[in-house]
Amino acid sequence: MPHKKYILEQKKALITGINGMDGSHLADFLLEKGYEVYGMERRSSSKNRINTKHLEGKITFLTGDLSDQNSLLRCIKESDPDEIYNLGAMSFVGESWNTPETTGDVDALGVLRILEAIREYGKFIKFYQASTSEMFGKVTETPQKETTRFYPRSPYGVAKLYGHWITRNYRESYNIFACTGILFNHESERRGHEFVTRKITDGVAKIYLGLEDHITLGNLDARRDWGYAPDYVESMWLMLQHDIPDDYVIATGKMHSIRYFLNKAFECIGIHDWSEYVKHDKRFLRPVEVDELVGDCQKAQDVLGWKPKVSLEEMIKKMVKNDIKLLGER
Ligand code: NAP
Ligand code: GDD
Repeated sequence: MPHKKYILEQKKALITGINGMDGSHLADFLLEKGYEVYGMERRSSSKNRINTKHLEGKITFLTGDLSDQNSLLRCIKESDPDEIYNLGAMSFVGESWNTPETTGDVDALGVLRILEAIREYGKFIKFYQASTSEMFGKVTETPQKETTRFYPRSPYGVAKLYGHWITRNYRESYNIFACTGILFNHESERRGHEFVTRKITDGVAKIYLGLEDHITLGNLDARRDWGYAPDYVESMWLMLQHDIPDDYVIATGKMHSIRYFLNKAFECIGIHDWSEYVKHDKRFLRPVEVDELVGDCQKAQDVLGWKPKVSLEEMIKKMVKNDIKLLGER
């Protein structure tokens, strides 16, 4: 009897938003799993590969834009993926009041464009959409779960809600294998500097090194459910490996204020009373706030076996340590 030959096919994944925090962590994760990874980036006059420098030569970078339908179809044709992870977005909530139209174009219609490109390409492709806890906005239930009513409070949240519903709608209309992950805030050493966590850890590192004497912030009473991004990208992959496409809340279930984050970050450099190092500027306040977000990820635990690993306190230590190292090297 001839031996039956088993050929293990290498899976291919296309990630939009490759140079962002999640895109780069997901690429690391999928490479570990043996995937061939394609990353879509926007053309820019100066390449923004701070998070992905280490991936050069390991993945294939493609140029495309979520506001350009043809570029998406071309990226799909060039990568011929088994899985697409749509992580590209104008992701800064505060900025979405300044650029509401662009935010809608990229974060809402961009999702529709990818779904249409998948239909046009015709091959079976699994799709992941990066939905967000911002869709809960003015919360109607605590903690928030998959069945909680949505009430977005920013142009970003409204655009993301369209992306969420159009993904569900295409799943139901065309039987596309499409999942949404309703991810609560997650951070890492690769977080953009405009977000409050990185702004704080970078500011603390500068104070420690004598480069600055204060950090200027907005609302310190807002409370968030913060997890660690490398843990969260695993959940995206798990969703696409499950037999049935569905929607999942991904969160830690623990909520802390910006003040708590400041306590822990300043503790890393031996400061216990940070009041003289933090200034307030109303420029960093938002027209309306999402005050308290905390998620219930029971469904993801039960169905996917996912749960967060790194605690908030551990993550803050990692981020402060990393910022001190980066600034020290400079
Ligand atoms: P991020 O670091 O800001 O990355 C977003 C990426 O999207 C950037 O690389 C950006 O490219 C790219 N992008 C922006 N506009 C684009 C366009 N028109 N076409 C193609 N790419 C475009 O965000 P993240 O924190 O990794 O988040 C990843 C995704 O998860 C986003 O969709 C975000 O809304 C969502 N999400 C994030 C969180 C969180 O707490 N991090 C929670 C829930 C959901 P450039 O580098 O060229 O600007
Ligand atoms: N960015 C920023 N800068 N936020 C500040 C500041 C400041 O100086 N001072 C206080 N905050 C408060 C904001 O008002 C907000 O209530 C909270 O800190 C968190 O702000 P961000 O870190 O900008 O994150 P976000 O929660 O608005 O949005 C992030 O999480 C969403 C998931 O809930 C982003 O990653 C979104 O893309 C994501 O969808």
